[in-house]
Amino acid sequence: MSLDTPFDTRFDTLIDRCGTDCAKWDSMQSLYGVSPDTGLSMWVADMDFHPPDCVQQALQGMIDHGVYGYYGDEGSYRDAIQWWMQTRHGWHIEKEWIFNTHGLVNGTGLCIDAFTEPGDGVILFTPVYHAFARVIKAAEREVVECKLVNADGRYEMDFDSYDAQMTGAEKMIILCSPHNPGGRVWSRSELDALAAFARRHDLILVSDEIHHDLVMPGHSHIPAALIEGITDRLIMMTATSKTFNLAGHHTGNVIIEDPDLRAQFGRRMAGLGLSANSFGLVMARAAYSPEGAAWVDDLVAYIDGNRQLFDAEVNAIPGLRSMALESTYLAWVDFSGTGMEQAEVIRRIQEGAEIAANHGTSFGSGGESFMRFNIGTQRARVKDACARLARAFGDLQ
Ligand SMILES: Cc1ncc(COP(=O)(O)O)c(C=O)c1O
Repeated sequence: MSLDTPFDTRFDTLIDRCGTDCAKWDSMQSLYGVSPDTGLSMWVADMDFHPPDCVQQALQGMIDHGVYGYYGDEGSYRDAIQWWMQTRHGWHIEKEWIFNTHGLVNGTGLCIDAFTEPGDGVILFTPVYHAFARVIKAAEREVVECKLVNADGRYEMDFDSYDAQMTGAEKMIILCSPHNPGGRVWSRSELDALAAFARRHDLILVSDEIHHDLVMPGHSHIPAALIEGITDRLIMMTATSKTFNLAGHHTGNVIIEDPDLRAQFGRRMAGLGLSANSFGLVMARAAYSPEGAAWVDDLVAYIDGNRQLFDAEVNAIPGLRSMALESTYLAWVDFSGTGMEQAEVIRRIQEGAEIAANHGTSFGSGGESFMRFNIGTQRARVKDACARLARAFGDLQ
């Protein structure tokens, strides 16, 4: 897609989200000191787009009917997930492998609870999505940071050094695939090496694949479930939330093929009395459809255009370097070339550019010199963000 494609009302129309009690725009002042009147919100990972019409129509159908009782038969919801994983990811699942959770942070917490004990080590490849460490610590488990190697602007894993780091207290890995932040789509050889590492150290592998549909042209995502020799220790997690911008529905899937792990997880779910939210199921079922699939293809092309624009303009600012995203709409920018302290980088972004962006330190070791910018927004806003950054760091030019 070229950057001067015609105006697409689905993605280019500016939508004012202020005053809707949304986290992204209505909390930017309290969290980042940036006014929603004059600033740009580029932090939390939801997009500024409406979902596809099929989702809106399904919700409208519920509203028109107007009786909001308990959800019953999940069969059609499970059919939709099965269809999506097969057609979009070449991954066959059985319907009884699926658990419905209150989103994937909840799914992560349930996995930690079901498969580890207090004091156990849980491995994260850092820098990585910040909620993982928060949940691990809250559950009184230990975060074990295995640092990704930044190989000239691309993250790689280094299993020799991770092997040396293991103490025997580690029980679980939480993988982010594709990776947030940095956008890596892990290759088959990397996933094979990861599976071997999990076997060597007898670790459960939880693979959070929430970003798996937002993969840039030229890359293809491999579900961890398609890797040999991992099924008996694998938990898969997927959701419609990032793909279709439905994060508020808080609906995720934990998918477990192994019968023993499934029974263990099922007992934990039952013990907490968890069951599905009907709005989430209706939205997700509508999204996982041919119409939803066509919308995602157009969305990915649009994000790819945003990515190209953002990278070209940001990389032209001396000292700034944006990682080439293979997936996600979360640009990860390294400010180490400016030679500035992190506090000064943050001051220039929040006070100078008036942009609310995630601080790299919150993603764990390796994130110190970075900031994360959400480019899942109208292209006009991405252009505006680039111009603001160029002005805020203009004295370096
Ligand atoms: C890797 C990853 N997992 C989970 C989530 C959040 O999932 P949920 O809203 O379903 O709890 C995010 C949100 O950014 C994410 O990036």
